[in-house]
Amino acid sequence: MTRVRSHKGRGKLACVTVYDAGMARLLEEADIPLALVGDSVGMTVLGYDSTLPVTLAQMISHTAAARRGIRRALLIADMPFLTFQISPEETLRAAGLLLKDGGADAVKLEGGALRAATIRALVENGIPVMAHLGLLPQRVRAMGGYKVQGRDAAAADELLRDAQAVSAAGAFAVVLEGIPAALAARLTAAIPVPTIGIGAGAGCDGQVLVWHDLLGFSPAPSPRFVKRYAELGDAARNALRAFKADVETGAFPAPEHEYS
Ligand code: KIV
Repeated sequence: MTRVRSHKGRGKLACVTVYDAGMARLLEEADIPLALVGDSVGMTVLGYDSTLPVTLAQMISHTAAARRGIRRALLIADMPFLTFQISPEETLRAAGLLLKDGGADAVKLEGGALRAATIRALVENGIPVMAHLGLLPQRVRAMGGYKVQGRDAAAADELLRDAQAVSAAGAFAVVLEGIPAALAARLTAAIPVPTIGIGAGAGCDGQVLVWHDLLGFSPAPSPRFVKRYAELGDAARNALRAFKADVETGAFPAPEHEYS
């Protein structure tokens, strides 16, 4: 965490979501420094229509799988909905299990000033915390959809207070999701820890993308903030069709695939 915190002002940090050991190995081979087991796993892998149903057990399982593929990257696990809102005891237990059973190096949780006391308590108990501000997917019902946040002056000022509160509480980094680029740059300048943006423009200290978006597994077209670095969904679909055709025509297996 110190290495992330002290990276502020020394170049940009890349972060990618990861949900299993195979993904984690590829991420390591690409030398990505931050690996996030996001609760986006609920939508990308588990097929839910939001992150709300994701359980602590699922997060621990995916974090433990990712851990088996990670050597150098910092492994951060999302605290799922309702694991950090009910009581300090439940919060500490859930976060602790993500480290103890999941093997995470740190946890991430959504929310600003409202969560400052929670962040402080976790940090004091030796659990590093990444905060998450702006568009908060776990508040999708309250926000009325996945909408850009902080567009008016009052909301922008509130986000500034949130960023200051979570960094003062000990968060080692802050995800800024779905906010105007100028506001993200303002928040980045205002706090001493790195900001990692997603849909928050170039002024952040780093950028995070969801694996499925970055690699083109998500349906196209992607939202504006996504850059698709590959079209692996198309490649997989074509490979599957070719396999089916080969099986049906008898072209696979060929002699070179057989044992004598
Ligand atoms: O769950 C997730 O993948 C996230 C990132 C989008 C930041 O929180």
